[in-house]
Amino acid sequence: MSETERLELPDGVERVLLSEEQIQKRTRELGEELSEHYRGRKPLLVGVLTGAYVFMADLSRAMNIELDVEFMAVSSYGMATETSGVVRILKDLDTAIEGKDVLIVEDIIDSGLTLKYLLDVLQRRNPRDIRVVALLKKLRDDAVPVPVDYLGFEIPDEFVVGCGLDAGRRYRNLPYVAVVRTD
Ligand code: PRP
Repeated sequence: MSETERLELPDGVERVLLSEEQIQKRTRELGEELSEHYRGRKPLLVGVLTGAYVFMADLSRAMNIELDVEFMAVSSYGMATETSGVVRILKDLDTAIEGKDVLIVEDIIDSGLTLKYLLDVLQRRNPRDIRVVALLKKLRDDAVPVPVDYLGFEIPDEFVVGCGLDAGRRYRNLPYVAVVRTD
């Protein structure tokens, strides 16, 4: 029995979807793949706050090349988001990205609207290249098609928490990805 399975799940958590071991193994694989791709190029990893902070920390440590790290924070306009895709920047990058190799680091792609917005915004700043790595992507027929170059796991369309993902500002620090109770 793995460490995760021995754990007592916190209140409100229904079941573990991806164990800590699975996530760490896949993150190491992605780190190796990305290191090969970017060797000699010093990419800028752009984490999308808040959820990506855990994956960013793990992934960047799994990459054995020189790289730079920044974070952006974006916010959506409440209930209108899912249909309008209107997002605003709460925290922008600190440096220019013109001519740089940018790697957007996301914890999850759900409707795809946040990523679509970010790609539009950053592409206009003339980077040399923009790629996307996400730990999770929900299987949704109605999602906006967005390019995800490197993906950890495809998951069912359920409410998940852990590894940076929250439900009402809880559970971000769980080392596994779990489904929360919705009843
Ligand atoms: C999550 C996640 C992505 C976005 C994906 O962030 O980190 O940025 O939602 O959803 P989408 O594909 O439907 O746009 P959230 O807005 O929950 O903020 P948080 O990371 O601060 O919790």
